[in-house]
Amino acid sequence: MKKSQISPSGLERVLKEQDFIVSKTDLKGRITYGNRAFADYAGYTEAEFLGQAHSLVRHPDMPRAVFKLLWDRISQHQEVFAYVKNMAKDGSHYWVIANVTPSYNVAGELVGYFSVRRRPNAKALPAVTALYKKMRELEDVPDAREGMRLSAEYLAAQLAENNTDYDRFVLALEAL
Ligand SMILES: Cc1cc2nc3c(=O)[nH]c(=O)nc-3n(C[C@H](O)[C@H](O)[C@H](O)COP(=O)(O)O)c2cc1C
Repeated sequence: MKKSQISPSGLERVLKEQDFIVSKTDLKGRITYGNRAFADYAGYTEAEFLGQAHSLVRHPDMPRAVFKLLWDRISQHQEVFAYVKNMAKDGSHYWVIANVTPSYNVAGELVGYFSVRRRPNAKALPAVTALYKKMRELEDVPDAREGMRLSAEYLAAQLAENNTDYDRFVLALEAL
């Protein structure tokens, strides 16, 4: 089934506490590795996911501005922590807290990216869901660039109001 034909079912799968979902990508975000948990939660076989863009598991509720922040960070050789709602092949979703890092070869050249995800603190999800919902609403305009700008601006304003940045916001929610 093509990704574009999958619609969210509304069913949630909660990660088991001991599960770590690991994947690697090339510089363009195409999947070069996924562990067993990745295949299991996403519902794709290795043959189906290898070489695909990582947006294979993108859920439509996820704001584009969050992925922009993620790519801005990692392409500048920094790591990022983010809450991500992912969509499996059957339309169900699973929330993760992801750590995404750049990956280097022995010559120190950036060769791809690496991500480890685990179960987020359930207490964090209402605040994250509300934030992402508002951001998605702002992005839902005919001019995608303008939508992205408004959404990123909203996120920045929320973080500034709380005197924090995205990573500290995420880590504070995890500690709730
Ligand atoms: C290592 C790595 C892991 C990623 N993991 C996810 C993920 O679990 N879910 C997701 O929706 N996007 C993930 N992304 C971001 C995607 O590459 C993509 O930017 C995002 O799905 C938005 O898709 P779009 O750019 O086609 O709108 C990851 C990117 C990298 C580099």
